[in-house]
Amino acid sequence: MVFGVVLAGGIGSRMGNVEKPKQYLTIGNRPILIHTLEKFYANQEFEKIIVLCPAQWMEHTKDLIRKYIPDQDRVVIREGGATRNETIMNSIRYIEETYGLDDDTILVTHDSVRPFVTHRMLEDNIRYAREFGACDTVIPATDTIVESADGSFISQVPDRKMMYQGQTPQSFRAKKLKELYLGLTEEEKAILTDAAKIFVIKGENVHLVEGEVFNIKITYPYDLKVAETMIAGED
Ligand code: CTP
Repeated sequence: MVFGVVLAGGIGSRMGNVEKPKQYLTIGNRPILIHTLEKFYANQEFEKIIVLCPAQWMEHTKDLIRKYIPDQDRVVIREGGATRNETIMNSIRYIEETYGLDDDTILVTHDSVRPFVTHRMLEDNIRYAREFGACDTVIPATDTIVESADGSFISQVPDRKMMYQGQTPQSFRAKKLKELYLGLTEEEKAILTDAAKIFVIKGENVHLVEGEVFNIKITYPYDLKVAETMIAGED
């Protein structure tokens, strides 16, 4: 079974002083979260789409889904966790309680604030997660990536041809992700925000999926303006 996992458990602190977490802000004429959810909803492969949000925003999220999503049976709303990975673990908990976990349980995890994900990216994620156990959506780095260990001087300039920028979806066999996550120390858990990295540090293969430059994450007020312009061409 394949599950969509829409991560909306954050508070969007980098967006500055706005009245609600950024996933609930409107672009075009619908909330960002709804744009994202619609992309998942259109794909029939998803048994359920699990939306994880902050506890105090559960009712609001339910209201939005009632308003915008025609058949709510395929959408489940659960509480997010204290970190992004804890939010993903809450989705696994729901699946385990409701369906059980087996080797063919696939999670397609996605930032709720990346509303420009495409059908092709979702399809590729499902295919590669089935075939390789884990995959991550990326685009080739356009700028040279400079590493600085101390924030003052360059420690390395890696070959740009080998550098990519991570996006989402990131997709995994749920059982494997759970096992690896439980094997992390508390310090590792605290610093690992990226679920694909959990596979990497444990020596597991993560296949690349081709992302798109337009698959932006809405993080800062500037991104909101860009998204507003982009959505005008979509709706
Ligand atoms: N997220 C989540 N659970 C958390 C933290 C983040 O589901 N505990 C989700 C966010 O809602 C977002 C995605 O992960 O859709 C990407 O994270 P980011 O852009 O960093 O979102 P926020 O944590 O909300 O933003 P900020 O870091 O500015 O506070």
